[in-house]
Order: sequence, then C-alpha cells, then structure tokens
Amino acid sequence: MDFRFTEDQLSIQAVARDFAQKRIAPVAAEFDRSGEFPLENIREMGQLGLMGIEVPTEYGGAGMDPISYVLAMIEIAAADAAHSTIMSVNNSLFCNGILKHGTEAQKQKYVRAIASGEAIGAYALTEPQSGSDASAMHTRAVKSADGSHYVINGKKSWITSGPVARYAVLFAITKPGVGAKGVSAFIIDTEKEGFHRGKTEPKLGIRASATCEIEFADYKCPAENLLGAEGEGFKIAMGVLDAGRIGIASQAIGIARAAYEAALAWVRERKAFGQPIGSFQMTQAKIADMKCRLDAATLLTLRAAFAKAEAEKHGGRFGTEASIAKLYASETAMFVAHQALQIHGGMGYSKEMPLERYFRDAKITEIYEGTSEIQRIVIARNETGLR
Ligand code: CAA
Ligand code: FAD
Repeated sequence: MDFRFTEDQLSIQAVARDFAQKRIAPVAAEFDRSGEFPLENIREMGQLGLMGIEVPTEYGGAGMDPISYVLAMIEIAAADAAHSTIMSVNNSLFCNGILKHGTEAQKQKYVRAIASGEAIGAYALTEPQSGSDASAMHTRAVKSADGSHYVINGKKSWITSGPVARYAVLFAITKPGVGAKGVSAFIIDTEKEGFHRGKTEPKLGIRASATCEIEFADYKCPAENLLGAEGEGFKIAMGVLDAGRIGIASQAIGIARAAYEAALAWVRERKAFGQPIGSFQMTQAKIADMKCRLDAATLLTLRAAFAKAEAEKHGGRFGTEASIAKLYASETAMFVAHQALQIHGGMGYSKEMPLERYFRDAKITEIYEGTSEIQRIVIARNETGLR
C-alpha cells in the first residue's frame, strides 16, 4: 500500500473540497433544517464527475480508482453528510452493481444517466420485515409466459433517494422457498406504471437525503432489465454492499473530521479559569483520542479501498476490509461527534453551531448498509469460517 496519493487522486480530492467548501458548507444547515433535497448541487456534482468517480469515462464517469472515491467522499461528507449519502448511493450502490454485472446496453443507458448527474439512482433491498436479515424479503418477480417481462409486486422500505430517483436497482424473489438463492436483481424505471412512492421519512439526521418506501403493484419489468442471472441477486446485493461500505466509512470519516476540526479551533479560543480549555489535560486527552481514532479510521478505509483496487485487478474479495473500515469509522464518527460536542459545552447543543448536526448525522453510519452488529458478524464469519 503506497501512502502517497497520485496526482489524479489529489486532483479529484481538490475538486470535491472546493465544491464542498464553496457550495455545500454554506447551505448545509439550511438543508438540514428544511429537509429539502439538494437537487441542483447533486446535478452539479454529477457534472464534476463526483456521481460516478469509479465509472469509466465511456459510461459518463470520472474513470478514477477506489482511493479517489474515498478522498472525494470525505470532502463532501465533511461539508454535509446528507449530500454524501446521495453521492454514495449513486456511486457505490447504483453504478457499481450495474458496471460489474450489467450488459453493455444496461451500462450505456443506466450508468451513464446516473454518473453524469442527469438522473438519480436508488438501491432497494430492505423491506419492512427484512433489514439485517436481507434475504427474508417478500417482494416477488414472476416471469411472464412468453418470457418478455417480469411482473413485480411488493414493498421496499427506507429507500435513499426513493422520492426523487429515476432508476433503481431492485432485489426480488424469482424462486420462492430457497432463501438467498431465489433472489434476482432488476433495473427499475420509476416512471413506469405500477411504481409508487410512499411518504418521505422524517429522520434524526442526514435530513436533506430523501428516504421513502417504494411499492410495486403489477409493475412490468422488461426481461432485458434483469441484472446478472436469475438467482444471482443476493450475491450481487452483498458484493455491491462490500463496495458501498467503503463509501459509508468515508462518509463517517468526513463527519468525524469536521467535528474534530471544530473542536480543535474551539479549545484554542474558548477560555475557562483564565486559560484556553485546550490547556486542561482532560481536554487534551479528548483531542488525542479523537485524533488517534480519526487517523486509524482513515487508514483502515484507505486499506479497504486499496484491497478493492487489488481485487479488481487480480480477483479476490475485500469484504472483510470493507466491513472493518465501516465498523470502525462509524463508531469513530459517533465517538468524535460526541466528544467534540462536549468540548463546545452549551454551544455544542445549540443549532447556531454545526456540532449537534454532526452528532445527529454520525448516528446513521452505524445503522445503514449493515448495522455495526452485522459488520461484526461479517468480520467474525470471514475470520473464523464459522456461521
Ligand atoms: N459477496 C458475494 N457473495 C456473498 C457475500 C459477498 N460479500 N456475502 C455473502 N455472499 C453469498 C454467500 O456466499 C452465500 O452464497 P452460497 O450459499 O452460494 O455460499 C449467499 O450469499 C448467502 O450468504 P449468507 O448465508 O452469509 O447470508 P445470510 O442470510 O446469513 O446474511 C448478512 C448475511 C451478512 C447478514 C447479510 O444479510 C447482510 O449483509 N445484511 C445486512 C443488510 C444490509 O447491509 N443492508 C443494506 C441496505 S442498503 C443501505 O442501507 C443503503 C444506504 O443506507 C444508503
Ligand atoms: P433490524 O434488522 O430489525 O435490526 C434491529 C436491531 O437488531 C439492530 O440493532 C441490529 O443490528 C440487530 N440485529 C439484527 N440481527 C442481528 C443478529 N443476527 N445479531 C445481532 N444483532 C442483530 N435500505 C436499502 O435497501 N436501501 C437504502 O437506500 C437504504 N437507505 C437507508 C437510509 C436510512 C436513513 C435508513 C435508516 C435505512 C436505510 N436502509 C436502506 C435500510 C438499512 O439498511 C436498514 O435499516 C439496516 O440494514 C437495518 O435493518 P432494520 O432497520 O430492519 O433493523
């Protein structure tokens, strides 16, 4: 693993940082308050290449590597976690899966639209009764007698960008009674008949990232929109999440970095008992603990991105590295946001400063794309070979 970044990696990091600081940071608190979807910013991020960082240029992306993705995600998340959630679903959950398993026609049509920022993508795995136990889904896809299409019925919950997505990667049962082996993946056009959206969820954090239930009522999905082969859907879902978890780890680092930097500035300025609060040893211990965890989370996430790049070149898996990064970085985001808020005292609790937003936003990273408990299960299963 090379600790020096390439010029390309540094350049996408600079593009993301510039956009994040100039266009996102000034409006982040207002989007958090209103819960409005930041459509214009997302479109512009697409034009800058930030919605398909690892997507080859022939499909409308930036054609960069997994480390570039981590660096750019951190910058966007440090300005606003909600923007980075939308970015992460477009990049890792939507584009990645179709790039890996899609036909040439699927890549040209669907990846290009999302990577360029022209449209927004979603990933629909979770259902009301099945979140962690993802293969216990009920949504059913039945192939028509002539084989030309599938009829899909069912409900998916907690779908990020559901209220605005033009396309979604959907997982549904094509063969009941055989568990994960009966799941298939489909590319859904949300403008077709039979697709319905539920109400937008009122959330604790990442409030500008719109989330809702989506429902399928006799939705006719053309057979050419099957992604991969029938019965391969669960493996596609899990493989896509391996990559997605690197994105959420990066998001967690961005939130933690923003909270840490705010704390660092505050301990130098704020005085108590005649001295800067940063000169108290108890505050120094907080700073040291935050910094150690932040750096460790960053290194683990870069390692996971490096492992992904190696797997892409030479084959192999990177799920353990991705789960370790996601678990550690999300718990770091909670730890750092908590300590940074405490360091700000009463002002940390005020909506006039961003600490309470970082604190609310950090929590989601321990829940979605597999809870911390699920990451521990994945890591331990891979380490022990036991189930
Ligand atoms: N890559 C490829 N294949 C994989 C895999 C991976 N990473 N992990 C498992 N598989 C395969 C297994 O090899 C197995 O296939 P075989 O039977 O042929 O060996 C098959 O998939 C089933 O695997 P398991 O028996 O391990 O499945 P399980 O039912 O025990 O579940 C789990 C495993 C890890 C708990 C999984 O269900 C899981 O990750 N749950 C969490 C769900 C999740 O993360 N949801 C996120 C939704 S998206 C989201 O949240 C987006 C957002 O916030 C923005
Ligand atoms: P449950 O699975 O019911 O878990 C409840 C608790 O039990 C958790 O603490 C969990 O860790 C624990 N638990 C469950 N099983 C075990 C076990 N075996 N051992 C120990 N503990 C266990 N899903 C999508 O498909 N697409 C999206 O775009 C998407 N976006 C989301 C956005 C937001 C804001 C949120 C909140 C969720 C989103 N999700 C999405 C769903 C998300 O992935 C699930 O919420 C998550 O996987 C947990 O599932 P659950 O909520 O059903 O919790």
